[in-house]
Amino acid sequence: MDKLVVEGGFQLNGSITSSGAKNSALPILAASILLDAPIIIKNIPHLNDVTTMLELLGSMGVDMTLSEDMEVELDPSGLNDIGARYELVKTMRASVLVLGPLLARTGYAKVALPGGCAIGSRPVNLHIDIMKKMGAQISIKDGYIEAKTNGRLKGCEFYFELVSVTATENALMAACLADGITILKNCAREPEVSDLANCLNSCGAQISGIGSDELIIEGVKQLRGTSFSIMPDRIETATYLVATTMTGGEITIKNCQPNSLGSVITKLEEAGANIFCSKDEINLKMQEEIPISTSLSTAPFPSFPTDMQAQFIALNSISNGSATVTETVFENRFMHVNELIRMGGDIELRGNTAFIKGKGRKLIAAPVMATDLRASASLVLAGLVAKGETIVDRIYHIDRGYERIEEKLKLLGAKIDRISA
Ligand code: UD1
Repeated sequence: MDKLVVEGGFQLNGSITSSGAKNSALPILAASILLDAPIIIKNIPHLNDVTTMLELLGSMGVDMTLSEDMEVELDPSGLNDIGARYELVKTMRASVLVLGPLLARTGYAKVALPGGCAIGSRPVNLHIDIMKKMGAQISIKDGYIEAKTNGRLKGCEFYFELVSVTATENALMAACLADGITILKNCAREPEVSDLANCLNSCGAQISGIGSDELIIEGVKQLRGTSFSIMPDRIETATYLVATTMTGGEITIKNCQPNSLGSVITKLEEAGANIFCSKDEINLKMQEEIPISTSLSTAPFPSFPTDMQAQFIALNSISNGSATVTETVFENRFMHVNELIRMGGDIELRGNTAFIKGKGRKLIAAPVMATDLRASASLVLAGLVAKGETIVDRIYHIDRGYERIEEKLKLLGAKIDRISA
């Protein structure tokens, strides 16, 4: 199993380019099931979750051609096996994204209940409720969701009682081929939802309200192929910005989307970074010798993203001052805290809030265990400033969501290596 070995104490300086967004690539790949003709998807990130989604689509008969510059052409005309098997679904919760497209396109779907990051119970009731409201009959047995519909799904009005990114995406995809108009209320406004909607519209879908919490979809008979470039990964971008705020230095991130990062940029400025954004670049120069503690609470977009919570706990652990970090999106998303404490972090958990006393750059390297995708990133960031050599184990979690993390960090001057044990 691969590990990352990080020697702390080096500033980050230089420039890197953002990869395509994982959370946009996954639904857009799943959306290929809806189409009548091939789609070309560009700027696909090279990540384990993307490979899993491609394997899943391939196992269902979707034909694919991958080019070296991370462009994929998907031809759904051979779709034959309309089930998503547990062996493929168990490693990635986002596999549930094939439910809506399969049902809308073929009238049947059998999808294993998802696995993925161990961050709370993460149910799929909202995905099921909206499909039912659109006329599907659904049963859950032997760990599978089985969904059927007589004829096409029916447009409807649906209010999401909780804001859910992938449930919004599943509903959006299903509604594109439903009979009549669907009005979705209290939708997730994450930029990746808008990226999916824009991609679907370029295939001939009729979606309005993109970027708002109310999406209106007029069902169409069929969707054509298109060529679409995935948006840059805002969580990847933000992770490198936090890394540099922690180590000190100055970096430029090219081909990113600054306007999707407002809440994170505000917090980094509070921590002492000087940030300059142009249309698709961010320059960050750390001004303070030691970062300043900054408190936050996670919530759906445009508020502070839960996917950046772990990295900010690492940042606060090495800052000057005290901070609280409250997690409101997922229960049990604090597995990184114990590992950071093992590196000398002063963090106390009370309910869904972490109380962090910053100690300056005084963390000490230790062997640590990655437990989920973003938690793993926070351990690498801590390793960048800790005294000595931090070994991060189980980095398959990182490879699910960060493209060539050690190469990008090395480019910026970090001392980090991947070893195979
Ligand atoms: C997506 C992102 C993930 C991010 C999360 C929140 C992808 C592939 N993953 O995950 O990186 O951390 O959004 O921004 O885009 N919930 C229910 N019932 C449901 C669905 C969700 O109760 O049917 C709850 C969840 O347990 C959680 C909250 O809703 O507490 C939000 O989860 P959700 O937005 O669905 O997360 P994902 O879409 O899985």
